Amino acid sequence: MGFSVLLAAYTVTLLLAFTIATLHRSIQSKRTSATALNKPAPPPGPAGYPLLGSLLYVIGPLRHNPHRSLVALAKAHGPIVYLRLGLTRAMAVVSSAAVAHEALVKNDAALAARLVPDNVRALSYGATSMVFLPSSDQLWRQLRVLIGAGFSSSQIRPVLERRAGQLAEHVRACAGSGRPVNIREAVNGTVLNVVSNVLFSEDVVDLREQQKAQTFKSLVVPVLEEWSKPSVSDAFPFLAPLEHLLGSRRRISTHLAKLFRFFDEVIIEKRLACCEKHNDILDVLLSRMAMAKLTRQQITTFITDMFIAASDTSTVTVQWAMAELLRHPEKMKKVNAELAEKLGSKDFVTESDLSELPYLHAVVKETLRLHPAVPLIPREVVADDMSLGGFHVPKGTGVIVNL
Ligand code: HEM
Repeated sequence: MGFSVLLAAYTVTLLLAFTIATLHRSIQSKRTSATALNKPAPPPGPAGYPLLGSLLYVIGPLRHNPHRSLVALAKAHGPIVYLRLGLTRAMAVVSSAAVAHEALVKNDAALAARLVPDNVRALSYGATSMVFLPSSDQLWRQLRVLIGAGFSSSQIRPVLERRAGQLAEHVRACAGSGRPVNIREAVNGTVLNVVSNVLFSEDVVDLREQQKAQTFKSLVVPVLEEWSKPSVSDAFPFLAPLEHLLGSRRRISTHLAKLFRFFDEVIIEKRLACCEKHNDILDVLLSRMAMAKLTRQQITTFITDMFIAASDTSTVTVQWAMAELLRHPEKMKKVNAELAEKLGSKDFVTESDLSELPYLHAVVKETLRLHPAVPLIPREVVADDMSLGGFHVPKGTGVIVNL
């Protein structure tokens, strides 16, 4: 049988499934509308198109700067907006501080699950990643405690101060030789090395050797790029087999496998082969693996999580802070004056200096407000009767809090 015949057979099957699903849904909605009369109404939202719902809006304007497009939606419909995406996915977008508080504090348990997009399920990533596990999960709790201890200020202070020293040295070397400083590369390399040293006591980037930095970046960036794209199968689950075969899920599996292999072969394997103790998070993880409390795959996923969560967030925030200061030279003058007054000839800011630098502190906070690196917090309703802002939000609905 040729590929075209297979494709035709597949298309017919899909159309059939699609028609049955639509019929089934319309019968079911007639049945449930009768029983749901006593429930509060769902939140308001755009009418959307038949079958597609608001999907075109999501893959159109929402794709770039989604948090800004969602603000426009909130202005039209209110602090909680209901969106139907394709056949199965329903979302409630929360845009006010009061409803966000209601969602994340009062309804914390009802919203314990994270939204897991289909492309995050590649290589079972979503099933073991702490970024996607519900906060009620045992593995999530175990890893959160570990992060709390491993990234406590006393643990990371020496690592931070050494990397800050290296960054200052790098900036000075660039200035001395008249080379421009690539802020993105320098900050990203520093952040990655802080995380890698807290996790497994090694640098993954050499600030002087951009080539080495590129090797690590070439493993992380493609995964982040693929994950940032919406996946068709989230709105139309019956298209999942096709997407797994030809779409982004297949590409993510390839990129993720390379990243997993790097951490497993280059970091974990090397540590297992040596008997020296480093007193770092990897030592703790491997001792738990020896007690059968963690698997090697869970350790690899955890390390991947940490790099993915850390790499772009801090870098983009510093880039924005510098860009805003360049756009507002009078504010840049104030920061410089404060640093000169409080630090004198000291090379770089340490944690203990921060309380002496209220203006710099305010610049960081304002940057996080104007350009949040993670503007949307996604959750999924796991309780039967949840209401938000006075509206009924059914179980299974995705809830997005727009910070
Ligand atoms: C400007 C920098 C950063 C910002 C704005 C930021 C923001 C966030 C936000 C909004 C979340 C989601 C929280 C939730 O769903 O309740 C998150 C989760 C997370 N972040 Fe960050 N983050 C930053 C830097 C970092 C760094 C440097 C690391 C690692 C050292 C990190 C590790 C994580 C982890 C592991 C999670 C998942 C935690 C969980 O499941 O509870 N983040 N971050």
